[in-house]
Amino acid sequence: MSEPYRTALVTGGSRGIGAAITRQLAERGVRVACTYRTGRPEAAALAAEYGDSVLPVQYDLAQPNSARDVISTVLERWGRLDSLVLNAGVWRGGRLGTIDHGDWWSVLESNVGGTARLSREALPALQASDGGSVVLISSAVGLVGFAGDTAYAAAKSAMIGFARSLAKETGRDGIRVNVLAPGFVETDMTAAVGDRARRRITDDLILRRFGEPGEIAKAAVFLSEDATYCTGIVLTADGGWSL
Ligand SMILES: NC(=O)c1ccc[n+]([C@@H]2O[C@H](COP(=O)([O-])OP(=O)(O)OC[C@H]3O[C@@H](n4cnc5c(N)ncnc54)[C@H](OP(=O)(O)O)[C@@H]3O)[C@@H](O)[C@H]2O)c1
Repeated sequence: MSEPYRTALVTGGSRGIGAAITRQLAERGVRVACTYRTGRPEAAALAAEYGDSVLPVQYDLAQPNSARDVISTVLERWGRLDSLVLNAGVWRGGRLGTIDHGDWWSVLESNVGGTARLSREALPALQASDGGSVVLISSAVGLVGFAGDTAYAAAKSAMIGFARSLAKETGRDGIRVNVLAPGFVETDMTAAVGDRARRRITDDLILRRFGEPGEIAKAAVFLSEDATYCTGIVLTADGGWSL
């Protein structure tokens, strides 16, 4: 009998890093539910490239019911979930003295609360898998900080503590929980970085360039599919920025 297909859920799969992860998993024969919030046409176009093995599903980190709905949709379609890639993220910048207090907390609530809600909903299916995996896309900013990013850095740092604790809670079920911390990557999220700031950042990068989404996806797929004896680790993919 042939091996059953592995099944993954990639949040924020309609664009940027999440779309690259969706592609690379699908190319390895994994069935992937890729979520979008507003980018339904982009997610549908991605699914059209891979036929039945990519399923676009709407999901909003900030909506408590959305986590339950997205997991139900995957289980109704494929009956299993082996890998959860928590990629969708919300960024809002501004120094602590100027950022709106509501915005500050919404970055924490959506990134950290959203991560916890979806992980919790996915747990029974991951426990039933014989190779459950959770990959959280944090950020190198969560490791070393960045002026103007107290909310985002706090959220991305909290995801690391969350992941290490969840790894300890779920290891006995054979679930691995790992973190990927990218640096600056060429996506819509960094498109607004002005020329001066970009030059300043690039000067601090050992590899002297921003990363490409496909380079980050390779590291995420490694953690999800190949790193079978790694749990609770933080892998940086930042061109040496945090060194
Ligand atoms: N780009 C970087 O330099 C960088 C560096 C370090 C870490 N990261 C992290 O990597 C992850 C992906 O970043 P990216 O640069 O690829 O982002 P991106 O190009 O801006 O894409 C964001 C993705 O997340 C989805 N999304 C946005 N808000 C959402 C919400 N409230 N609920 C659910 N989904 C939502 C978007 O969906 P729609 O388009 O459908 O709305 C889209 O698919 C994020 O967690 C980010 O913090 C990025």
